[in-house]
Amino acid sequence: MTLQAFRAELLSVPEDPAQGGTIRHHEDGLLVIEDGLVVAFGAHADLAPRFPDLSVERLSGLLVPGFVDTHIHYPQTDSIAAYGGQLLEWLERHIFPAEAAFADRAHADAVAAFFLDELLRNGTTSALVFATVHAQSVDALFEAALTRNMRIVSGKVLMDLGPEMLHDSVETGRAETEALISRWRGRGRLGYAVTPRFALTSSDAQLAGVGDLVAAHPEILMHTHLAENLGEIAAVADRFPTARDYLDVYDRFGLVGPRSVFAHCVHLEDRSLARMSDAGSSIAFCPTSNLFLGSGLFDLVAADRHGVKIGIGTDVGAGTSFSLLATLGEAYKVGQMRGTPLDPFRALYLATAGGARALGLADRIGGLQPGQEADFVLLDPAATPLLARRTAGASLAGRLFALQILGDDRAIARTYVAGNLAWARS
Ligand code: GUN
Ligand code: ZN
Repeated sequence: MTLQAFRAELLSVPEDPAQGGTIRHHEDGLLVIEDGLVVAFGAHADLAPRFPDLSVERLSGLLVPGFVDTHIHYPQTDSIAAYGGQLLEWLERHIFPAEAAFADRAHADAVAAFFLDELLRNGTTSALVFATVHAQSVDALFEAALTRNMRIVSGKVLMDLGPEMLHDSVETGRAETEALISRWRGRGRLGYAVTPRFALTSSDAQLAGVGDLVAAHPEILMHTHLAENLGEIAAVADRFPTARDYLDVYDRFGLVGPRSVFAHCVHLEDRSLARMSDAGSSIAFCPTSNLFLGSGLFDLVAADRHGVKIGIGTDVGAGTSFSLLATLGEAYKVGQMRGTPLDPFRALYLATAGGARALGLADRIGGLQPGQEADFVLLDPAATPLLARRTAGASLAGRLFALQILGDDRAIARTYVAGNLAWARS
């Protein structure tokens, strides 16, 4: 039994404030951990008598749950900030050539290591991650994540209609997916997501196979892109003329269920949102990506009206930052463009417990409740001279909002994974 305790200002938003969830804030708080799990989270004055002989480490800053990135592509780490073109052109010009390089295992290992360290540097302790079509790209990521004890969910990308240099077949895609699921099942904090790239890069037969895989493996997720860009949506409508809409394409193959995570969903009608809500599917809202590729402004209010589960995704490399703080800043601006600014506590919820819920992990991460895994981040509201000026004497809401608008990796003083220090700013 290893007990640890941290005394700090604590903040957690384990339930959605938009649904009446309460904000847990302790200006002088105590977080107690045993063997990587939270034992207690509360006011120091209340908890200290319960743990009289504990040695306590004092941390200065705002301690919050580790961030959960619900959509990111590790093979696109080196393609961030690639100029020009909306989705389909950008994929052809920048992304497919970069992903083809993952046929080289040593390249995949090197990028996976940098990628995971960059997540930790940005306070992200859990993520749902696209790999490439190469099965070994998943091995590279999972091996590196296992070493760091991070909660990473990923899977080989299925794309039998992909370009010459980057495609599989119905048979190899399925066999490699099955092999990866059995190779990695139950190891560390890893999870598998069957990952068809999007409707345009898989044949009907491959999409049907995805439905079979999801049905055969009750523990895995289904992760894909949906309704991101108008050109993409027109091409999907062309290929599937009898489908009611883009979501219906996935629905016909059994891909719309409670373990499905759809990135983007920028252009969805009420019918699709209602169907996703009924099915218990989740949306990864990726504001920096949607702005960078000119995809559009996600309608969070419409998704909320239908009660769809939402998480935040950076979507690197279309996304322009690994930082979920910076991503929340852009989510706020997308809301402003729609006349519906995002509340800073709701934003923190979406980047932590909301993301965990979207990935089916709400019992394990996201809220720092007793029994949950002790992944947490120490935010520094005075990380830059400007942040220090802006947050001096500010309310909790003011400090949190300033961190979202002005903060990024510089504001992450420390990142802890399962109670262990995984990153400390020098
Ligand atoms: N749709 C299909 N593939 C991709 C991708 O790699 N990035 C984004 N943003 N959208 C996609
Ligand atoms: Zn993406």
